[in-house]
Amino acid sequence: MQHNVLILDFGSQYTQLIARRVRELNIFCEIFPYNHFPSDLSSYKAVILSGSPFSVRADDVLHPDLSEIRGKLPLLSVCYGAQYLAHFSGGEVAPSDTREYGRANLSYIKGGETFFENISENSQVWMSHSDTIKELPTNGVRLASTHDVENAAYKIEGETTYAIQFHPEVYHSTDGKQLLENFLVKIAHVPQNFTPNAFVGEMVAELKEKLQNDKVVLGLSGGVDSTVAAVLLHQAIGKNLYCIFVNNGLLRKNEFENVLDQYKHMGLNVKGVDASSRFLDELADISDPETKRKIIGRVFIEVFDDESHLLEDVKWLAQGTIYPDVIESVSVKGPSATIKSHHNVGGLPDYMKLKIVEPLRMLFKDEVRRVGATLGIDAELLGRHPFPGPGLSIRILGDITLEKVRILQEVDAVFIDGLKSWGLYDKVWQAGAILLPVNSVGVMGDERTYEKVVALRAVESTDGMTADWVHLPYDFLMKVSNDIINKVKGVNRVVYDISSKPPATIEWE
Ligand code: XMP
Repeated sequence: MQHNVLILDFGSQYTQLIARRVRELNIFCEIFPYNHFPSDLSSYKAVILSGSPFSVRADDVLHPDLSEIRGKLPLLSVCYGAQYLAHFSGGEVAPSDTREYGRANLSYIKGGETFFENISENSQVWMSHSDTIKELPTNGVRLASTHDVENAAYKIEGETTYAIQFHPEVYHSTDGKQLLENFLVKIAHVPQNFTPNAFVGEMVAELKEKLQNDKVVLGLSGGVDSTVAAVLLHQAIGKNLYCIFVNNGLLRKNEFENVLDQYKHMGLNVKGVDASSRFLDELADISDPETKRKIIGRVFIEVFDDESHLLEDVKWLAQGTIYPDVIESVSVKGPSATIKSHHNVGGLPDYMKLKIVEPLRMLFKDEVRRVGATLGIDAELLGRHPFPGPGLSIRILGDITLEKVRILQEVDAVFIDGLKSWGLYDKVWQAGAILLPVNSVGVMGDERTYEKVVALRAVESTDGMTADWVHLPYDFLMKVSNDIINKVKGVNRVVYDISSKPPATIEWE
């Protein structure tokens, strides 16, 4: 892949957002820890230093060697980065007297600066810092101030080095994207050529080169990431890609058959393996959620291993790992940063000895969706809600039986079909039904019943880390509740989950 922009992460909660904003400009960028970046910088055209929860005045200050960067490549230093440059280059950084957190407005902008082109005075910016730059570094020229922060932006005379105290990557900095564009496009002349189309072209070429005539095996889940990874690999190596789609017996109603059908229509070389009874037998009488997860993980690997042994000479295992998984595992956790490696399929046995190929490892989720659209993957498949690997097992509270799976599949189908037919499915980030381990009394006709209670859950979220319950229309809830109780034998009560995350989680187990 082309390189272009290097973002050095000093541990800010916003570092991923910087990358998102840069990518929105169709510019490719990569995040590296501040103390662990490539020694060959020849393919990079600009560098951005992120913010940090640490102080440049601390004894154990994060202090990387930037001698190969500063003055050699255009450099933008954000927040901690701006203080870092000031502190170590003849300026002064001190604790601020006033709280400098939240919205502020630029009260002064130096005229005639490309850096601030198309940004007017009073522009709102987002501040989040407790130290402040009292004195600019040697050759520093003030470019902007706010009411409370005199040195809100500066440049170094004679270099293409810029520094800002505020966060352009945060949505509340209204001209943040313009500022990044001014720096990256107008000042650093970085090409804006990172598009889904370009990605597909480059990645297919790269995969062809890397995989040659080797055989690759990939586990499809029906989800967006593994599907897009499969189609991309299929374009590169055709029939040498062997996909395996395992039915663990805990999928949604008819999902195994429907998704398998869809995959075959897409021309993928896919084998459906129905291992339902193997999973359900192993799960018999197990109530503990973590034990359920472990059993499902283990049995999946066993089934996958059995199947890949049936294929001869497989050299590679393909995975749908995406960028947030990759950067989460290298981000700075503190001055004594530990760098972990990431394995999406945690716990693949060593004896499988397959090399790993991860064609989506540089993409964010919405980029994966756009690449999927470019590849012609059905919009319905790309828009599917996330679904947990352990499937309905963690939505059946307590032990799992075939009958409970049947009940929950029916309830879930009424709910999800209802969301689709009411035009609500795409407004919801994730939805599902939960089978509770309690019976409740009801009355149907002249008879009293004592049957199952189900909970419905629908949340809005961007990444699943935080979530809020969706205010579904009462009319919809009324209809779905009626349909469930009338159509699904064994259920006589429906409740709606109105808990946000935190403190609740999305799944109940
Ligand atoms: P929680 O319940 O932690 O879920 O709020 C956040 C997101 O992760 C999904 N989830 C899982 N996905 N294996 C998975 O592959 C799991 O064990 C698992 N548990 C939760 C959940 O559906 C939601 O999207």
